[in-house]
Amino acid sequence: MSSLPHTTDVLILGSGLAGLVSALHLADRRRVTVVTKGALLEGSSAWAQGGIAAAVAREDSVDAHVEDTLVAGAGLCRRDVVERIATRAPAVIRWLQAQGVAFTAEADNRGVLHLGREGGHSARRIVHVADSTGRAVQETLEERIKRHPNITVLEQRVAIDLVTRGARGSAGRRVDGAYVLDRRSGEVQTLGASAVILATGGLGKVYLYTTNPDVSTGDGVAIAWRAGCRMADLEFIQFHPTCLYHPDAKSFLISEALRGEGGKLVLADGTRFMPAHDARAELAPRDIVARAIDFEMKTRGLDCVWLDMRHHPRSFIAEHFPTIDARCRELGIDMALRPIPVVPAAHYSCGGVLTDARARTDIEGLYAVGEVACTGLHGANRLASNSLLECLVMGEAAAADILAQAATPPPALPDWDHSRVTPARESVRVAHDWDSIRRLMWDLVGIVRSDERLALAARRLDALYAEIDAYYARHRIDNDLLELRNVAEVARLIVRSAQQRRESRGLHYNRDVPEMLCEAVDTVLTP
Ligand code: FAD
Ligand code: SIN
Repeated sequence: MSSLPHTTDVLILGSGLAGLVSALHLADRRRVTVVTKGALLEGSSAWAQGGIAAAVAREDSVDAHVEDTLVAGAGLCRRDVVERIATRAPAVIRWLQAQGVAFTAEADNRGVLHLGREGGHSARRIVHVADSTGRAVQETLEERIKRHPNITVLEQRVAIDLVTRGARGSAGRRVDGAYVLDRRSGEVQTLGASAVILATGGLGKVYLYTTNPDVSTGDGVAIAWRAGCRMADLEFIQFHPTCLYHPDAKSFLISEALRGEGGKLVLADGTRFMPAHDARAELAPRDIVARAIDFEMKTRGLDCVWLDMRHHPRSFIAEHFPTIDARCRELGIDMALRPIPVVPAAHYSCGGVLTDARARTDIEGLYAVGEVACTGLHGANRLASNSLLECLVMGEAAAADILAQAATPPPALPDWDHSRVTPARESVRVAHDWDSIRRLMWDLVGIVRSDERLALAARRLDALYAEIDAYYARHRIDNDLLELRNVAEVARLIVRSAQQRRESRGLHYNRDVPEMLCEAVDTVLTP
C-alpha cells in the first residue's frame, strides 16, 4: 500500500464530448481530473461532421424523433431511454449555445437554426456547424475546461485498469480509482477517486477500415470487462456507408449530410442502385445502405462506389460542406465536377458497457458515458447524429447522479507492480498481431457474417489473445501493447456476442440466420 500521489473527487477517463460535458457539469461542486490518451481534442467527437439530432423545428416533434430512433433500432431500443434523451435534446442544444457554440443559422432568417437531414430521420433535424460540428463543439468546451479552476487535465496518459474492491459480481464491489500510464515517462501512476467516469469512446480500430481516429481502440470496454462489468449488444457495429476511398486518405468520412442534400449513390456508369434496395433509397437507415453498397461491390467486383453531388453548384458545396470539399480537392476530387469514390467502413459501436438511465454500471461509483456505454438508446442500429446527443444528455445525467451523493475519499491504494516484467523488445510482433486482428475482423466479422466465419474468427482470436496476454504478463507495458491487448479482448467480445445472436437484426446480419425473430432480446455478456 502507498499514499496516493493524486486523488480527486471524480476521475474522468477520456476527453471526448462525453468526458468534457460530464466534467463541466461536475466542476462547480467537485474536483475533477480528466485523463486522456493523447491531446485533449483527440477522439471521434472532434471529427464529427453531420451534427446533433434535436427536434427543434416547429414542424418537427420529440415524438417523431423518438419514433425514428425506435424504427432504426429495430426493436431493441429502450423506449424510456429514447424518450428521455430525445426530450432533453432541445435543452442540451441551448446549453451548448450558452457555452458559446455558434450553430449554423438559416441565411435568410436570423436566429433560426439551419437543420440538416440524414438517413432514417423523417424531418430536417440535425443541428450543425457547417460540416465540422464536432470540432466547433469540442474547441468551445475545451476553452471552458481549461479555464475552470476545479478541473485538472492530464494529457498523454493511458488508463490501464481500474482499482476496485469487493468480490466480483457482488453488491459491495466498488471502484476507487485507476492505474494510468504516462506515455512520456513510461511510469504508471495510481489515481484515486470517489467516482470514475469511463468516457473512452469507440472501438473502430478493431477493424481494418474505419472512420475512427487512432485512439478508438475500445479501451473502456476492455477495462470495464476486466473489472467485472457486463457488456451489452456488442455485435451491433455500425458501418458508415460512405468513407472516402483514396490511397492517401486514411479514415476520412463523407458525411451522410451530403445524401441529405440529395447526393446519389452510383456505379461507374452513373446508374443509381439504392432505389432497387429500399424505397427510401439513399436516405434509408445506415445498415441498409451499407449492406446495399457491400452487395453491389461484391457482386460486381468493385473496389468502391461513387457519391454524386453534381446537381449542386460549387457555391452550395463550398457553403455547406467546406471541410469535406477542401479535403476532397486536396486529393484531386472536385465534387462539383465528378462523383466521390466511397466505401463502407466501421464507424460506431452501438453496444458497450451496460448502464442504466443514470449511466451507472455494475460497479458502484463507476459510470460509463458516450460511445463506450450501452444505454439502450441505439438498439440494433443507431440513428444518425444521435451519438453526440447521447454524450450530452448522459454526461449531464452521470454528473447529476454523482452530485446527489457525498464524495467519500478513496482508501490508500496499492501501487502498480513493475517488479516481474522486463522491457518489451518485439515491437514488430505487436504491430503484426495488431494487423492480423484488424484484418481478420474485417474479413470475418464485417457487414455480412456467417456461422462458419464467426467460428473461425473465434478460434483465431482465442489463440492470438492467449499469446498477447502471456506477452503482456512478462513485459513492461507501453501504449501499443495496452491497445493491442484491449483490441484483442474487444474483438473476442464482439465475436461472442455475434455468435450468441441467432437471428439477423439491425446491423447484425448473419446469412445462416437471415430472419429476424419476433422477440427482441439484448445480448448480455457476463464476465
Ligand atoms: P471520443 O470523442 O472518441 O473520445 C474518447 C476519448 O477517450 C478520447 O479523448 C480518447 O483519447 C480517450 N481515451 C480512449 N482510451 C483511453 C484510455 N485508455 N485512457 C485515457 N483516455 C482514453 N455522431 C453524431 O452524433 N453526429 C455526427 O455528426 C457524427 N459524425 C461522426 C464522424 C466521424 C468521422 C466519426 C468517427 C464519428 C462520428 N459520430 C457522429 C459519432 C460520434 O462522433 C462519437 O460516437 C462520439 O463523438 C463519441 O464521443 P465520446 O466522448 O464517447 O468518445
Ligand atoms: C455523418 O456526418 O454522416 C456522421 C453522422 C453520425 O455518425 O451520426
